[in-house]
Amino acid sequence: MSLDIFLDDQELISRIQKLKKERNAVILAHSYERPEIQDIADYVGDSLELSRLAAKTDADVIVFCSVHFMAETAKILSPQKTVLLPAAEAGCPLADMITPTQLAIKKAEHPNAAVVAYVNCSAEIKAMADVCCTSANAVQVVDAMPQDEILFVPDQHLGRWVQTQTDKKIILWAGCCPTHQRMKVKDILDLKQQYPDAEVIVHPESNKDICDLANAILSTSQMLRYCQASESKTFVICTEMGMLHRLRTAMPDKTFLQPSKGLICPNMKMTQLEDVYESLKELKHPIEIPEPIRIKALQALNGMLAAVPLK
Ligand code: 13P
Repeated sequence: MSLDIFLDDQELISRIQKLKKERNAVILAHSYERPEIQDIADYVGDSLELSRLAAKTDADVIVFCSVHFMAETAKILSPQKTVLLPAAEAGCPLADMITPTQLAIKKAEHPNAAVVAYVNCSAEIKAMADVCCTSANAVQVVDAMPQDEILFVPDQHLGRWVQTQTDKKIILWAGCCPTHQRMKVKDILDLKQQYPDAEVIVHPESNKDICDLANAILSTSQMLRYCQASESKTFVICTEMGMLHRLRTAMPDKTFLQPSKGLICPNMKMTQLEDVYESLKELKHPIEIPEPIRIKALQALNGMLAAVPLK
């Protein structure tokens, strides 16, 4: 075992900064990462923003503090770069709720439907999709498809919400995010009773009964911009609790509350400072994707990036 794991946080952070320069690396972190990981990242964002940053960075190494499918997305977009996932075992149960065989069967049942894959899925599933989307652009991507029928995989809740925003026929897949499922309507209503002026901000991976209470249904970065622009001072944030650190850091004068004692995604919380340090030091754990799969998955991701104009 390396003695480096006994370094204190300050020493770890300064070694991370030094290695980052030596390796010409960039550190990307999703909004659900631990506060200390968000604080050392060069960029914190939602999946769409992080995909775009990964595509355009001129760093040689991308340290992707998040879960496997997001690092994989970066590798699909930037095959010449070294993309590292510091916590090798950080997966996504939602992404695991669809396999290529299952998708092939469903595609055969709906030959006229376009397959729109939420980025929370494997490279193999992206390779079988017509286009990808994130929660920030799902409606725009669906509306941009020439087909009237959309097989939307794998998140049923995002798909159900998209159905409320589009005239296209959405065929749902039965996947869901176990973390967002844990929210309870009663907990939100209790907070609303305590803070009647609070706005309820909901991630579209949430159940319908939670979405029905929302003032706004938004991706994580859209939540940040919405709360910045809003005149309200108090918000109930219905998504993973890492988002509260991002919001509180950006808006220290506003109050952000979480229902259901805080939602924790165990996978997003796997990455610790030690992992980032080890990752930069030993180039751990590089993402590799077979080239034929990468090429097809790239087409689906490029379709998404083309469908949504740059801001
Ligand atoms: P965002 O794209 O809104 O950051 O969401 C990603 C995700 O995995 C939510 O659970």
